[in-house]
Amino acid sequence: MKDVAQAAGVSITTVSHVINTSRHVDSATRARVLEAIKLLGYLPNSIARSLRSGKTKIIALIVPDASNPFFADVARQIENIGYQQGYSVILCNSDNDPAKQNNYINTLLAQQVDGVIFISAGGAPEDLIHFSERGIPVVVADRDVPLDLADVVLLDNEQAGYDATQHLIELGHTRIACITGPHHLSPSMQRVEGFRRALREHQIPCDPEMILPGDFRFRSGEAVITRLLAYQSPPTAVFVLNDMMAIGAMTAIRKHGLNVPADISIVGFDDIEFASAVTPALTTVAQPIGEMARHTTQLLISRLQGDQEDAKKRIVLSARLIIRDSTAARKG
Ligand code: RIB
Repeated sequence: MKDVAQAAGVSITTVSHVINTSRHVDSATRARVLEAIKLLGYLPNSIARSLRSGKTKIIALIVPDASNPFFADVARQIENIGYQQGYSVILCNSDNDPAKQNNYINTLLAQQVDGVIFISAGGAPEDLIHFSERGIPVVVADRDVPLDLADVVLLDNEQAGYDATQHLIELGHTRIACITGPHHLSPSMQRVEGFRRALREHQIPCDPEMILPGDFRFRSGEAVITRLLAYQSPPTAVFVLNDMMAIGAMTAIRKHGLNVPADISIVGFDDIEFASAVTPALTTVAQPIGEMARHTTQLLISRLQGDQEDAKKRIVLSARLIIRDSTAARKG
């Protein structure tokens, strides 16, 4: 840094202000400093800088399944927003494994990131509490966790489940199945509650054999619909709790020589990019991914910029049913 200052004819303090953008430096001086940095091949020591400032300008994002387009889009949008505000975002994929999730939490505690955005793989991530103990803010998104230590951004999953099921009922379906996500995850439980409420309000019996668990992945959609189609009296419509399983289900229905929606209607959840690209285009519940990413990232950066309000914020967003070609009136 001393050599850069000498080459640019400025003080070391000015070089530091240019590198850290910690104070205004006129453009001519700034250009001279950047030119000297380039000529001398100077690389600021980020570890030393973060030790001095106590900030790394790094945000960690933990997601349960980076291969799922829903989380990939959430991660892309959070990274974009963080980058625009001067933060680097590192992605940790817990792969739906609570043990791996805990390993990442402890790794991040050691790495001294500035803040964490956490989407749970399930389990009770008690180690999250250590971030709060060290003054490192956490924002929980998408899946609620039973710990009052973070601001939270969620979806009104119960209402979304109700709306999806209501749509099928309005099409005349009464034998409606539901392929759920992992039962222990809050979004899956809440969507099933909405499914049940819609059936109850229309006095449609809820056959427990019609509510079967998937794992939010493509193959489980194929496997579970195959079980449902083997029933003596198969469903005429299925509410599938995410698009990856819904697309898997449609693939298996076709393999069984049946047609969507003529023989069986399918509603998905998330509205990933593929939902409108598959044939027939998937009727699905659109999650406000952009809104969720904006609220989540902004809540965290507000905490990093000094928002010390003790009361944790809880934002609940609404979803939208997008009606496409995979649902139709019940035959006969
Ligand atoms: O597709 C993954 C699902 O798990 C989404 O519905 C999202 O809400 C997450 O909880």
